Amino acid sequence: MKNIKLEINYELRQMDELSEEDAALMRKAMDATDHSYAIYSHFQVGAAIRLKDGRVIIGANQENASFPLGTCAERSAIFAAQAQYPDQPIVAIAIAAKNLHGFVKTPVTPCGACRQVMLEIEQRYHQPMRIMLFGTDGIICVNGGIRDLLPLSFIDENMH
Ligand code: THU
Repeated sequence: MKNIKLEINYELRQMDELSEEDAALMRKAMDATDHSYAIYSHFQVGAAIRLKDGRVIIGANQENASFPLGTCAERSAIFAAQAQYPDQPIVAIAIAAKNLHGFVKTPVTPCGACRQVMLEIEQRYHQPMRIMLFGTDGIICVNGGIRDLLPLSFIDENMH
């Protein structure tokens, strides 16, 4: 038997400890929470994606009376980016969320389904994305890509 330990790496930064372009991306994600349609959960999530060419695409969660049909902010941004600019790798994603009391204290993290979709994007472009998760206590910055948030993940290679 072997006991294997996996390690994940991230930084906790304040807004003024982000580069100018990362802070701008995070502000876009925060603004995007206002585009959320979250009349059921009252949890408004915004995502902002930076493409390789510098373009920024936003997304926000969209809910439905038929609950499973709703879509997370991350996937709404990722799919919009992919549909419009399929030749552009995603280099960074910023995510922010607020409830009825305001922006959350503890950084919001992408759900399992979104992590799997983010993994597919990294595989598609052979490029990890920088992931920044907003909380009023601090911003989690994952520099190594989605593999730090989705270890032992399932990819196309696993089927061959
Ligand atoms: N949600 C997101 O948009 N992204 C996340 O990372 C977590 C959850 C949305 C889905 C749903 O509309 C609401 O937040 C409550 O789960």
